[in-house]
Amino acid sequence: MNLISNMSNLIIGFLASHGGSNMQAIIDACKLGTLHAVPGALVSNNSSSGAMERAKNESVPSYHISSKTHPDPHEHDEAIIRAFCENNVNTIILAGYMRKLNPVVIKAFNGRVLNIHPALLPKFGGEGMWGMNVHKAVIAAGEKVSGPTVHLVDSEYDKGRILAQAKVFVKPDDTPETLAARILEKEHELYPIVLQKIAEGVIRI
Ligand code: GRF
Repeated sequence: MNLISNMSNLIIGFLASHGGSNMQAIIDACKLGTLHAVPGALVSNNSSSGAMERAKNESVPSYHISSKTHPDPHEHDEAIIRAFCENNVNTIILAGYMRKLNPVVIKAFNGRVLNIHPALLPKFGGEGMWGMNVHKAVIAAGEKVSGPTVHLVDSEYDKGRILAQAKVFVKPDDTPETLAARILEKEHELYPIVLQKIAEGVIRI
């Protein structure tokens, strides 16, 4: 089933499990007018996440959908699709979503599903590469440069088409935490820029 037709405006559905700072940066860019898009809805698998709190503060419809609320995997995926469809979402943004997305959801949105990863893929991606694990590995490998990657989501972790990357220099005295903080700042710049390029048709997905 193809739920997307006659795309004109970007209506964004967020999937987030934790802080939601990337979601916030995207909402802020919409409010500022630097991103021509509409925040449509948030789905979080964590009812007490910062992302849920932020969505409520911003009056973005929010849904708690997890294996607790929906133990049946099929019903779980259907609930996500329904939540986004109810809000006319046509583009899904993963921002710290700690669950693998079932291909049925990706297909329902015609593959218009993006993720941000805090390292320069294809290096330092894949299963287990999340949070501080990524930055620890970057520092342990002696990399001089790291930075976020925005990519399309497919059925494999961190393997979808790369849409954009930004460089962040690794300092000799960086800890995983200091590096993560600088990369997160860069994420907040990069994600809205990529979305605006999609809105303008400069990046095609
Ligand atoms: C970011 O570091 C992002 O790269 C990763 O998850 C984190 C989400 O942070 N995918 P936040 O919830 O947006 O603050």
